[in-house]
Amino acid sequence: MNAAGESGRGREPKRRVCDASSSDHCDPWAIEPMPRELFDSPLDFLFADHHRQRQAVRILLNIAAGAWDETGGSDLITFLERDFALHIQDEECDFVPLLRRICPPEDGIDVLAERLADEHADDRSSVQRVIAILRKRLQGEPLSRQAQESIRDFAAHLRQHLAIENSVLLPIARVRMDAESLTALSKAMRNRRGGHMS
Ligand SMILES: [Fe+2]
Ligand SMILES: [Fe+2]
Repeated sequence: MNAAGESGRGREPKRRVCDASSSDHCDPWAIEPMPRELFDSPLDFLFADHHRQRQAVRILLNIAAGAWDETGGSDLITFLERDFALHIQDEECDFVPLLRRICPPEDGIDVLAERLADEHADDRSSVQRVIAILRKRLQGEPLSRQAQESIRDFAAHLRQHLAIENSVLLPIARVRMDAESLTALSKAMRNRRGGHMS
């Protein structure tokens, strides 16, 4: 993904997001902005959102290892409270129900959907625990060993969840969803964000 341009961060909007090819000229605290240019391509949007969640995982692991930046930590809280929550709603309320309607039984969507719903429920509770930890860190409280473990557990859980969705769920959707389904999903995701992407 192109990381140039607006970063969505309050601090330095032009700084580059770190990725596998990055040198030291990138911001290790940056998460790419919502991919508004993909508004009409909802599966690409979801994939891009997964990429942003991987960036959040990287930041969480850095924090668990002792790194800290006040603006970066604050932006991460905003991402988890807003963008991550919206993403789970996209999947739970629209994307997965749509797939359950249109996919034939041999795709095994019902079993997969139940697994993902369980994982989303876990994410909803563990992200609240992580946000509370980050808020305390923002107030100057150092991380306890237990807090470090909670952050690492959440990051590991999210990473494997993303792997399943990218390797199984999205490929099925790319085969099964027609123009009408894609338009309906795009509309629902747009409405969830009040018709805009910021
Ligand atoms: Fe997802
Ligand atoms: Fe998900």
